[in-house]
Amino acid sequence: MQLGDIDFGGNLFLAPMAGVSDIGFRDVCSSFGADATYSEMLSARAMHHNPKKTALMTIYSEKERIKIGQIFGHEPDILAEAISNPLLSHYQIIDINMGCPAPKVVKNGEGSALLKDLPLASKIISACVKASKRPISVKIRLGYDHDNSLEIGRMCQESGASFVTLHARTTQQGYSGKADYEAIARLKSVLKIPVIGNGDVVDEKSYQRMLSTGVDGVMIGRGAQGNPFIFSDLKKLSYDRDLVAVIKRHVRVLREHYDEAFITKYMRKHLLWYASFLNGEDRIKIATSQSIDHSIEIIENHIMTCSE
Ligand SMILES: Cc1cc2nc3c(=O)[nH]c(=O)nc-3n(C[C@H](O)[C@H](O)[C@H](O)COP(=O)(O)O)c2cc1C
Repeated sequence: MQLGDIDFGGNLFLAPMAGVSDIGFRDVCSSFGADATYSEMLSARAMHHNPKKTALMTIYSEKERIKIGQIFGHEPDILAEAISNPLLSHYQIIDINMGCPAPKVVKNGEGSALLKDLPLASKIISACVKASKRPISVKIRLGYDHDNSLEIGRMCQESGASFVTLHARTTQQGYSGKADYEAIARLKSVLKIPVIGNGDVVDEKSYQRMLSTGVDGVMIGRGAQGNPFIFSDLKKLSYDRDLVAVIKRHVRVLREHYDEAFITKYMRKHLLWYASFLNGEDRIKIATSQSIDHSIEIIENHIMTCSE
């Protein structure tokens, strides 16, 4: 996929995941072949009132190739203003979140609530496109409580979006059920702008199924948790599968920006994903650990014992 002078290479996108896709995770996923990465979702209103608070969420790693900043909100002028905020200047693309199902976001008419108000969604996209020299993309779901993804996709296209990413579930489904790949194929067949397919890609088989919809790119979220190697695996790149080195690198990047107390708590979930092979006592130790280095030692010892 190509947008102007932006070349998406192997067209593999790491999904935006608030509370998960931190700079260290994006760094390791990029080093294993993710072509494009997203910031965690950034509130346009927060950037308007207190940009300093958002600053730490916009840091990036030199390893990230195509950087996409994702914004959310419900006021067209505030979202359009965010586009020219210097905090977003390093992103090659700005994405508008119209898929978040979190109650605190939806109750403000933001995220996937916009799928219930397409005239407002259209105003937001048009205002952002007008305010931006960079491509504007939109991340959507099938619909709010039913599948009207064709109508939503057409609205995005007509409002000037450069591409859409479809997570093929409704808001009401949350993360339950299966992503509807037929809906992705239908959307791809009617839109002129590129479509990125998203939902449940976790291995070669699901990746091939997603590619068979005809999409221009594939976005991976939960399938990369604990497994940044997935990007190299799908691209058939050879690499050294050194899990401990990956974990250490993830932590090293975080240490450049955050304090140890924060990282210790924050990394527990990532460590449990990385070490999904651990069970029982070792998992509990990591889930309650007060020392990242000790948790890494537990993982390292387990790997060494198993390989003896
Ligand atoms: C913990 C978590 C946080 C997420 N945060 C965001 C977000 O900030 N913005 C967004 O557009 N989607 C967000 N998503 C949705 C993912 O980008 C993706 O659409 C969804 O997980 C389906 O893809 P998957 O099956 O590959 O995980 C989040 C998902 C998870 C699991």
